[in-house]
Amino acid sequence: WVLGRHKLATSIVFFFCLSDVSCNSVEQKIYVELNNTVPCVRLLNATHQIGCQSSISGDTGVIHVLESEADLEWPLSKGPNPPYMVLLESSLFTRSIMMKMKNESNRVAGVAVVVPNTSPPEFSPHTTCPNENTGVYSDNYGPNLAHCNTTVWNPRGNGLSYEEFDFPVFSLKEDNETEFIKQCYLDHNRAVNGSAPQYPLCAMQLFSHMHAVTNTPTCMRRNDINFSINPEMVCDPLGDYNVWGSIRPYNDTVFGHKENESVVIAAARLDSRAFFWEVSTGAEGSVSGFVTLLAAAQALREVTHAAPPTRNILFAFFQGETFDYIGSSRMVYDMENGKFVIDLDNIHSVLEIGQVAVHSGTNLFLHSDPVSRRNNTVNDEVREELFSSFFVPLTWPNVSQPLPPSSLQRFLRAQPIPGIVLADHESAFNNRYYESFYDNAANLNLTYPSDLSPEEQLEFVTDTAKSLTDVATVVARALYKQAGGDESLVNTIKADPKIVTQMLYGFLVSSNNSWFQAVMAPELKNILKPSPPEYYVGVAMSSTPTRLVQYLLANLTGACLFVHYGAGIPPHSHSLFLSQMYSYLWVQGIVPPNSTERDSFCVRASVRLTKAVSPAFELGEYASKDYSTWTESRWKFIKARIFLVASRDLEMLTLGVGVAVLFTSLLVTYFISTKADVLFSSTREPASAAY
Ligand SMILES: *[C@@H]1O[C@H](CO)[C@@H](O)[C@H](O)[C@H]1NC(C)=O
Ligand SMILES: *[C@@H]1O[C@H](CO)[C@@H](O)[C@H](O)[C@H]1NC(C)=O
Ligand SMILES: *[C@@H]1O[C@H](CO)[C@@H](O)[C@H](O)[C@H]1NC(C)=O
Ligand SMILES: *[C@@H]1O[C@H](CO)[C@@H](O)[C@H](O)[C@H]1NC(C)=O
Ligand SMILES: *[C@@H]1O[C@H](CO)[C@@H](O)[C@H](O)[C@H]1NC(C)=O
Ligand SMILES: *[C@@H]1O[C@H](CO)[C@@H](O)[C@H](O)[C@H]1NC(C)=O
Ligand SMILES: *[C@@H]1O[C@H](CO)[C@@H](O)[C@H](O)[C@H]1NC(C)=O
Ligand SMILES: *[C@@H]1O[C@H](CO)[C@@H](O)[C@H](O)[C@H]1NC(C)=O
Ligand SMILES: *[C@@H]1O[C@H](CO)[C@@H](O)[C@H](O)[C@H]1NC(C)=O
Ligand SMILES: *[C@@H]1O[C@H](CO)[C@@H](O)[C@H](O)[C@H]1NC(C)=O
Ligand SMILES: *[C@@H]1O[C@H](CO)[C@@H](O)[C@H](O)[C@H]1NC(C)=O
Ligand SMILES: *[C@@H]1O[C@H](CO)[C@@H](O)[C@H](O)[C@H]1NC(C)=O
Repeated sequence: WVLGRHKLATSIVFFFCLSDVSCNSVEQKIYVELNNTVPCVRLLNATHQIGCQSSISGDTGVIHVLESEADLEWPLSKGPNPPYMVLLESSLFTRSIMMKMKNESNRVAGVAVVVPNTSPPEFSPHTTCPNENTGVYSDNYGPNLAHCNTTVWNPRGNGLSYEEFDFPVFSLKEDNETEFIKQCYLDHNRAVNGSAPQYPLCAMQLFSHMHAVTNTPTCMRRNDINFSINPEMVCDPLGDYNVWGSIRPYNDTVFGHKENESVVIAAARLDSRAFFWEVSTGAEGSVSGFVTLLAAAQALREVTHAAPPTRNILFAFFQGETFDYIGSSRMVYDMENGKFVIDLDNIHSVLEIGQVAVHSGTNLFLHSDPVSRRNNTVNDEVREELFSSFFVPLTWPNVSQPLPPSSLQRFLRAQPIPGIVLADHESAFNNRYYESFYDNAANLNLTYPSDLSPEEQLEFVTDTAKSLTDVATVVARALYKQAGGDESLVNTIKADPKIVTQMLYGFLVSSNNSWFQAVMAPELKNILKPSPPEYYVGVAMSSTPTRLVQYLLANLTGACLFVHYGAGIPPHSHSLFLSQMYSYLWVQGIVPPNSTERDSFCVRASVRLTKAVSPAFELGEYASKDYSTWTESRWKFIKARIFLVASRDLEMLTLGVGVAVLFTSLLVTYFISTKADVLFSSTREPASAAY
């Protein structure tokens, strides 16, 4: 066979040189790998599959650079060389264009979107009514509020993230790589005066084949087939860990209802998503909220030690909320089933921090649930207590409006609990880039003077940090008052702008900074990157944001112990030790000025991680209507490359010649092996016959 292949290859080269295509085109067929690409991948829920995929051997098409919507005519009907690989500027990455291509998917091999460094005026590939089927509003609960009937929260949403495309869609960074592709297009593919361009043409091949199909029940069934028959998993549930911590620690071996225990829950979400896999930056969508909550937790450390409030305060950071409230639904499920340190009856109230990218002159809004507020008990508590806990001009939106998409909805689904959601929008979101890759540092106006070094930027208190500090102060004071703290001390509670600015820098600019290095465990230092972390929940079960928030919450609420080893405290080789009451985290610490060694130390904190995997997978109800059923397909590899293709006719001819040569060599081989004893009469070893 080696002989046969060699002959095939030689004859193809031979053929190219004979034909009027220059021998050069064989050399040009060499592939150029594209390095800065991000695919859109397939996700599945109980009933649908969304996202994108290529065929198993990758999809290849002739590159067409789209210049306007009208220009779609060429790839979709007029162009003579389908299928086309359409290269889009992000301004053309619209629902109308994508749906037209989806409709003609036999002529579209794939799409590559060039992501620019500057943001468009607005863009949200999410739905207009996020998590509409898994919140609290339904036919049984506020039916007139369900399905965003009264308020469309994300009116800019074009829903592209929830569409299914049966061709691959990749993003490309705007840099010399895209220039290289465009040059290849201009040199080879451009239609001159509407006439067909000449071969060879510049083509692109995208590989993103997805193993899972149809929906979650189907792919979970395939996962469950015995390993010997099917050694490959095809999909995994989306999930991670929730991070939580409390002012007073709980004995982590005692679950369920606690007598005489009343807890105020302060919550925020950790995750976000974007159209493309793992590029979500969630600045306003989630970072603004959880940074505020972390800063509020820090602001409460002193006062809650000096004058503990009568109620406990539990800080909860939920993962996977984007995908039908994975984290909060799991915590509520655990509380209902006696698998958490408290249960729902222990909850006094919930204060959730939503999107809070406030700028000067704008208000914050307190959202509450009009349905449970109709119940007088809950109404009184929300109005009198929660509202009066705030100290700055805050506004109630119109009462007939439902809660925005929020974790609180999952608590209300289980029980009428008083609660409010703090956000920067009165009705529809202010965020112009909800769940998109443009919801980044620039969306929060996070800018630094250009002459600062990274370390100076880390310390520089931006205006964004100042305003979030104010919000954190308000939240901390409200929580303290809400928890029954000493009213005379409330005004002493202040969030620290330096900590807020450092967190914004770490979460939105570069997680590899001296502060994050100091608070992390030695073996986790590699997750710090000179870029912001990705906030997509994923399937790996320990994403960077979870770890960062775990260690930061420990640093901001815990206590430093300069302990001796032994006595149950770990040596720094394994740096997390869980006692019944506390987590002990060994952290790197800073490098002192006149030293090269880090001053490692141990932090004792009440910070814990609990699973944020949808109860649907716990219960094996893969078609659940109550819980998130999102899974992510597995794939073998993701790759993109460009190369020049010869014409299809030429390729067919080449193939034909190749096949002819193959058969000839087979015949020759057959002839030689049957006549071997004649031809090679001296060597009679039996093995020689087995070619
Ligand atoms: C899809 O294509 C069909 C015919 O090919 C056309 O009738 C229909 O309007 C198209 N739909 C959209 C959304 O473009
Ligand atoms: C919204 O709810 C009201 C009251 O139930 C109903 O009359 C109306 O048709 C609903 N609107 C939509 C768009 O569903
Ligand atoms: C699954 O996702 C699709 C696409 O977003 C949606 O239309 C459908 O309602 C979802 N199914 C369930 C059970 O939530
Ligand atoms: C793009 O730029 C980088 C760095 O400037 C360089 O290493 C790379 O070779 C360039 N690629 C192309 C295709 O020009
Ligand atoms: C991608 O990386 C490979 C190997 O580093 C390099 O050969 C290739 O030129 C790069 N592609 C582009 C378009 O820069
Ligand atoms: C394209 O058309 C224009 C005017 O119709 C003509 O001047 C030009 O030479 C044409 N270009 C080519 C390459 O045929
Ligand atoms: C799958 O494996 C289990 C245990 O490994 C065995 O009991 C069962 O019979 C197997 N089922 C099939 C269909 O092979
Ligand atoms: C935690 O609870 C367990 C079980 O009730 C008990 O044995 C243990 O002493 C408690 N630990 C602490 C530190 O109170
Ligand atoms: C109001 O909520 C409280 C607390 O959950 C509950 O005990 C009571 O039955 C509710 N009242 C009405 C009228 O629904
Ligand atoms: C950012 O700055 C622009 C213009 O200066 C302003 O319109 C916008 O409201 C600011 N956004 C935030 C979140 O501060
Ligand atoms: C938190 O981090 C800072 C800076 O590294 C450090 O000075 C402080 O001691 C840490 N606090 C705790 C409780 O770990
Ligand atoms: C570092 O310098 C300070 C002040 O110069 C000194 O007090 C301290 O002992 C030095 N530490 C070490 C480890 O040399």
